[in-house]
Amino acid sequence: MTALLAETGVRTGLPRLNEPAPPFEAVTTHGPVRLSDYTGSWLILFSHPADFTPVCTTEFLAFAEIAPQLRARGVELLGLSIDSVYSHIAWTRNIKERTGVEIPFPVIADLNKEVASAYGMVMPGESKTETSRCVFVIDPNSIVRAMIYYPLTTGRNMHEILRLIDALQTTDANKVATPANWTPGDAVVIPAPMTSEAADQRVTQGYDCVDWYLCRKTLETPVTPASQQWAASTPAAS
Ligand code: BEZ
Repeated sequence: MTALLAETGVRTGLPRLNEPAPPFEAVTTHGPVRLSDYTGSWLILFSHPADFTPVCTTEFLAFAEIAPQLRARGVELLGLSIDSVYSHIAWTRNIKERTGVEIPFPVIADLNKEVASAYGMVMPGESKTETSRCVFVIDPNSIVRAMIYYPLTTGRNMHEILRLIDALQTTDANKVATPANWTPGDAVVIPAPMTSEAADQRVTQGYDCVDWYLCRKTLETPVTPASQQWAASTPAAS
C-alpha cells in the first residue's frame, strides 16, 4: 500500500503480499528499466545499503553466483541502492577487477529514493540515507509474493532465496503449501480443509496425515533439473 507525499510527489509505503508491486521507472547500470519490462517473468528486486561496502560486496558476489540458477527458474535479478550510476559502475568494475566476477544484473541508481520509498526500503531507525537489505519476490503478473527485510549488518542467505523461489513455484504448480525447512524433493503440505465434511474426508484420502489439519504428500515430479543442481550444492546434500 502506498501514499503520495504532497510535498515531494514521491510514493511512500510498504508493499503488501499478494497485491500489485508498486510500478517504477529507473536508471540502471544496464540502461532505463521499468517494472512492466519484467511482466511474464519472476523478478527479485533487492536493495543494498551502499556501494563499496564489505557485506554488500559479498552479497553481490553471491547474487552473481546464483544468477544462472535463478535464470533457470525464470527469475531475473535487479539490484538497488541510493547511489549514482557512476558509483555503481565503478564498484561493479572494481569487483570484476579484484575477483574476476562479472555482475550480470542491472543495479538501480535510486538517488531520489523514488523506488526505495515506494517499496519501504529505508528504515529510518537503522539509517536515513541507506536502504536496508530488502528482497521483493515479484511474480510474472507483477504481484508481490514474498518480502525479506534484513538489517545493515547481516548478509543475506542465497540458499534461502533459491528455496523461497522453489517453494513459491512449487505452490503455484501444485496448489500445495511447503512446511518448515522444506527443500525440493521433500513432502509438501495439503492446504487445510475448510469444512467439517472435507476434514472427515481428508484422513481417508491416502495422504500421510498427523490429523485432518496436517496432511503431507510427495509430489510425483518433485524437483526440476535446476533445483536438483542447487540441491547438490547445499551443505545438507554434500
Ligand atoms: C556493509 O555492506 O558492510 C555495510 C553497509 C552499511 C552498513 C553496515 C555494513
